[in-house]
Order: sequence, then C-alpha cells, then structure tokens
Amino acid sequence: MNIILFGAPGVGKGTQAEKLVKKYHIVHISTGEMFRDAIKGNTPLGQLANSYISKGHLVPDEVTISLVKERISQSDCQKGFILDGFPRTLQQAECLGKICLELNIKIDYVIDIEVLEDELITRLSGRRICKNCGSSYHVVFNKPKVNDVCDNCQGPLITRDDDNKESVIVRLNTYKKQTEPLIKYYMDQGILLRINGQQAIDDVFKEIVNKIGE
Ligand code: AP5
Ligand code: MG
Ligand code: ZN
Repeated sequence: MNIILFGAPGVGKGTQAEKLVKKYHIVHISTGEMFRDAIKGNTPLGQLANSYISKGHLVPDEVTISLVKERISQSDCQKGFILDGFPRTLQQAECLGKICLELNIKIDYVIDIEVLEDELITRLSGRRICKNCGSSYHVVFNKPKVNDVCDNCQGPLITRDDDNKESVIVRLNTYKKQTEPLIKYYMDQGILLRINGQQAIDDVFKEIVNKIGE
C-alpha cells in the first residue's frame, strides 16, 4: 500500500505516520525529516534547505523532487510507503505521477487530515521532538512517559527551530497558497480520503484504518 499523508503543518502527519508504519509495515518517507537530518549533518543539501525552512518557506521543487525520486526508487519501498509532507505543490504532484508511472507503482490513497487553524497553532507551539529520532510529542496532548525524554530511543526532547510564532504563520500561509489546491487535484483522481483530525490521536488513527482497511 502506498499512501500520501496530507494536511497543514501540525495536523498530525508525523504522529499518524509512526502508527501506520507499525501497523502496515511500510516505509515512512518524511521530506521534512530528510531535510532536518541533512541540516543536522551540515551537508550542502542541509545548508540549502535550512535557508528556506528556517523562514517557513518551501525548499525549491527540483531539490525536493529529486530527493523523493531517489528515495522511492530504493528497494525497501517495494513493500509500500507513506509520503509525509510530499507533494506540497502542483509541480511536485505532477512529477510524482510521472515517477509512479516510470516505477510502475500507484498511490492508493491520499489521506487529508483536517484541523482548524487555531488548534494547529496550539499543537505547534506545544510540540517537542526527539533530537535523535524525530518523534513528535506535545506538552499537553501527547506527553512522553518520562519528562523531556523520548519513549522510543531515550533521546532528549527539543523544540523544532521552525515552531516559533513567525515561522508558523508563514508555514500556514504557504500551505494555504501552494499546497491546499492539491486537495482538488487528488479529489478529481478519486483517491482523496478526508479525515477529521480534530479528535484524540488514537481516534484519528482508527478513522484512517477504517477507511483504508485492516
Ligand atoms: P515538515 O516537517 O513536513 O513540517 P509540516 O508540514 O510543517 O508539518 P509538521 O511536521 O509541522 O506537522 P505534522 O502534521 O507532522 O504534525 P505532528 O504529527 O508533528 O516540513 C518542514 C519544512 O520542510 C517545511 O516547512 C518546508 O520548509 C520543508 N519541506 C518539507 N517537505 C517539503 C516539500 N515537499 N516541498 C518543499 N519543502 C518541504 O503533530 C504536531 C503536534 O500536535 C505534536 O505536538 C503532536 O504531538 C500533536 N498532535 C498530533 N495529533 C494530535 C491530536 N489528534 N490531538 C492533539 N494533539 C495532536
Ligand atoms: Mg511532521
Ligand atoms: Zn527518539
């Protein structure tokens, strides 16, 4: 099964991806996570990506598309994958369509998680991520078992650089302008599933599983 997890910053893509990966044994591909790893390693890609991400802007399409193309061509993706945070522009969506044709694979579902804007701001301002593995927590809604320590790898929890107020506003606007139009694009293809993201994490997960099948 190949899935796109779609939605504004903070809807819970990363949170749901972690649960879906465990249930369906498929690969999690988060472009945001790939960029953050490159930034951590201070690679040329990381330096380039950081100049956009820190301001809340999108990394240029050609960079992001070639990164994803390379990743989904790898053999582990044959068991299925979740694209988290890609595509985010019409050009990315069209290129993904071409890549799928070339590789003879298809996207089964685009899961659009929907949450009101005020709630997104509350979620992003209280988010903490693991410095080692990137897992997402929340100071109120999704606390780790031990304060400031990751449940999965015992790494320290930190605030993401782009979760400051200014970047969050830019990210939400960027989503509205450049990414939201893809809802219609995938609705027209008949593969869009709308999910109420405004419920507890486990209930969002149940709704997704109900719609895509056990
Ligand atoms: P990316 O890392 O993808 O960030 P994003 O899209 O802004 O989304 P987030 O990761 O912020 O939110 P999420 O939906 O994963 O929410 P989460 O599960 O963490 O991208 C970062 C940047 O990289 C972009 O801004 C861009 O610059 C660049 N980039 C990435 N992809 C790109 C692309 N394709 N093209 C160009 N540039 C690209 O949850 C959020 C919080 O809410 C957490 O604290 C969580 O615990 C909590 N929470 C989750 N679910 C619930 C719930 N149901 N109830 C209560 N709290 C919840
Ligand atoms: Mg995420
Ligand atoms: Zn961790």
